[in-house]
Amino acid sequence: SKLEMFVDELPNMPRIFGYKVVGGIPKSKSIKIGMFKKKWKFHRDLPPTTVYAYGLSKHTATVPGPTIEALYGIETHVKWQNHLPSNHILPWDPTIPTSLTKSTKGIPTVVHLHGGIHEPQSDGNPNSWFTARFKSKGPTWTKKKYHYSNNQHPGNLWYHDHAMGLTRVNLLAGLIGTYIIRHPSIETPLGLPRGDEFDLPLMLFDRSFRTDGSIFMSSTGNNPSIHPQWQPEYFGDAIIVNGKAWPRLTVRRRKYRFRIINASNARFFRLFFTNGLRFVHVASDSAYIGKPVVSNETLVGPSEITDVIIDFSQSKSNVAILANDAPYPYPSGDSVDEFNSKVMKFTILPDKEVDTSRIPERLVEYPVVDLSSVSRTRYIAMYEYTSNIDEPIHLYLNGKPYDAAVTETPKAGSTEVWYVINLTDDNHPLHIHLGLFKVLDQTELVKSDEFKDCMMKFNDAVKCHVDKHSRGKKVAVLDYEKGWKNVFKMRPGFVTKIVVRFSYIHTNATYGFDATPDPGYVYHCHILDHEDNEMMRPLKIIK
Ligand code: C2O
Ligand code: CU
Repeated sequence: SKLEMFVDELPNMPRIFGYKVVGGIPKSKSIKIGMFKKKWKFHRDLPPTTVYAYGLSKHTATVPGPTIEALYGIETHVKWQNHLPSNHILPWDPTIPTSLTKSTKGIPTVVHLHGGIHEPQSDGNPNSWFTARFKSKGPTWTKKKYHYSNNQHPGNLWYHDHAMGLTRVNLLAGLIGTYIIRHPSIETPLGLPRGDEFDLPLMLFDRSFRTDGSIFMSSTGNNPSIHPQWQPEYFGDAIIVNGKAWPRLTVRRRKYRFRIINASNARFFRLFFTNGLRFVHVASDSAYIGKPVVSNETLVGPSEITDVIIDFSQSKSNVAILANDAPYPYPSGDSVDEFNSKVMKFTILPDKEVDTSRIPERLVEYPVVDLSSVSRTRYIAMYEYTSNIDEPIHLYLNGKPYDAAVTETPKAGSTEVWYVINLTDDNHPLHIHLGLFKVLDQTELVKSDEFKDCMMKFNDAVKCHVDKHSRGKKVAVLDYEKGWKNVFKMRPGFVTKIVVRFSYIHTNATYGFDATPDPGYVYHCHILDHEDNEMMRPLKIIK
């Protein structure tokens, strides 16, 4: 059965304020957000789907969850509450490292605020999971109430589950939501479109459904004798925006701001408008870029955020389809089909509008990185291990499973250069918790196979002479991706050079005390199926 496109209106998710205003002065606030099992309607003609949803109550919980509004410099405290009954709604795999075992009572969850710069105890370490009424807890669980300091660039973050071995299924079930940090004294003078009507988060993901409305995920793995359920990438045939499949939105002939978040497990979106409308980029991930950049298309990997202005007054037609042409897996896989090539439809009202919003010449300029302050260089190699039927078994970073002793231990406040060497055929979006980075360049590996053989033996890029092999063509970083990022697309067969800053943190490491155990941070591929099958490593900040 084929669902008709563009029949549901685009929802605007409910907003929750992470601060309160007392006598005109913003103050810190504590909120409780629950995770509930409920039914959600993804499409007019699809029966309601059982999902896991975030919300203040079961009744108001949504997929995606409510948009949390935070203010720069004002702490938001969230008590995340798991109300999920036992028995996962999706198939999971007991043979990958997982929080859901025979002895776990309930469904493990733990929330990570993606892009947030905050203490490790509030970061949602994959082993800090907990089940309903805290009946079972992971080994690094430390506290119930998370503290988000909001002491960072204004911009777009998102919150999502991060439980060990369940991230791909918990997000697939619906545990995602937007989090915006605003800084009025910096942002208001920019004059960008604002307010609920003209400034909207768009959370994109792909899903497949059975005719009874339930989410379809394969319950058989690609190597069933090794991993009975795990598949290397989940792809769905319906494209969902803010919880509706291929929605529509009627817009005025003026500028809008869209904060586009790719919340898919594995799908990349290469977005463009069918009527030639262009994207004016203002921010990328959690930070503004220096000046606006115009493009015809924008490639958004899993978990990347692109923040764009669309000026509908420039539209020659009254209809604009936001479309996608990224192959999946990206870039080596299948071409898009009729279904996943469309995202949503905009109907543009005919009358020209008075539009007082503007696109300034300069946005927010952050200090340039000083490469002379780099204290450490690291090499991170991405491999895929395949079985005798030539199917991936698991993916490792530097040949190490997640449990191997921590090797990335940057000093608090330091700046490091990382060379990320992608020896697989696919693009992997690498996300670093706590760190903000700039992408410097991408250089093709020559004699990639020779280099790969060496790396598979030694796990040591220096011994394998990365400098000798990274002499192919260089790919320049696109202008709109030159700002501070927290995730970036690691091109296959290339070495990506990034400069990471581990500063502005408030951790035990900075203060040198140990009030509560420090579970540390992580860095990983944000293709969730890879992250869950060990394309993730611990990251510990030291003094
Ligand atoms: Cu958005 Cu560690 O994740
Ligand atoms: Cu990956």
